[in-house]
Amino acid sequence: MKLGDSEIKVVLDSGVLGLDGLGYFPERLAILTGELRPRELAAISKTVTFGPHAGNFRWWKPWESIRYLGNGNYVNTYGLTNPGIVKASKALGRFCSRVDVPIISVALPAPEQAAKLVEAVHSIRPRPRAIELNISCPNVEQAPLDSLVDSVGEIRVATKLPLIIKLGYDQDFISILDRLYFVHDVAHLINSVRFSTVFSGKPSPLKGGGGVSGPIIFEFAVNAVEALRMSDYGKPIIGGGGIDSVDKAKTMLNVGADAIAIGTATHTRPYLPNHIKNVLAS
Ligand SMILES: Cc1cc2nc3c(=O)[nH]c(=O)nc-3n(C[C@H](O)[C@H](O)[C@H](O)COP(=O)(O)O)c2cc1C
Repeated sequence: MKLGDSEIKVVLDSGVLGLDGLGYFPERLAILTGELRPRELAAISKTVTFGPHAGNFRWWKPWESIRYLGNGNYVNTYGLTNPGIVKASKALGRFCSRVDVPIISVALPAPEQAAKLVEAVHSIRPRPRAIELNISCPNVEQAPLDSLVDSVGEIRVATKLPLIIKLGYDQDFISILDRLYFVHDVAHLINSVRFSTVFSGKPSPLKGGGGVSGPIIFEFAVNAVEALRMSDYGKPIIGGGGIDSVDKAKTMLNVGADAIAIGTATHTRPYLPNHIKNVLAS
């Protein structure tokens, strides 16, 4: 699919490369060995908020905000821990210099902060190619729909960059995208899925429940993308959630996605994003 002037098919999802384009230990190592080559991929940065946001992640006790569930699946309650767009802008510049098609992920600001947030994104060098609005983090409270529509409208007025809206399985994504139809360019489904949705009735190992990622959410992602396409949604869709093989990537494209996103699988199989891109291109 086209994103501005760039052609994209495989996207490294938000969280994989962190704020600076190098990610955490496994990704850094894989970039050094050449298994993971972000310079050949589109990638979305870790989400930043307008001001600093403490969230729940503490580097000295990470087990309180992320847990391995087995079979490649994780639950996390990070909740958008980040220093805010202004403090993050140097790191985001490094992110943009390290990937082929850099996309900056921001959490939805209040309508009156939208212009300043966009100004901060515009000042990043080298320039990002798109903005993704993460309005689906399962670990933070989302704004009511009317205020959300106002904020996205303000962002649309302030930028000509393509605007991607990232939504989750636990939201009424078809209605939300319908309300936002004229102020965005691309939909991205899905974010991590609430623990209670995936494991109904079971207690989460993390306080607050958290969002589940990994192969267990693939069916949720496929159903969401298929439902959106069947609703006659006419814009491009980035489909992600649990993709960990070429076959799953193809399934996602077959149900109506125009590009696919890979997150969690990259931690254990960092070669996958470039491999899938090469197979899809051949
Ligand atoms: C540790 C961790 C951090 C994440 N951080 C973000 C984030 O900052 N912004 C965002 O939009 N999604 C974030 N996600 C969600 C992923 O980008 C992705 O949408 C989700 O994990 C589902 O895809 P996957 O199963 O391929 O990982 C994060 C996921 C994990 C596991």
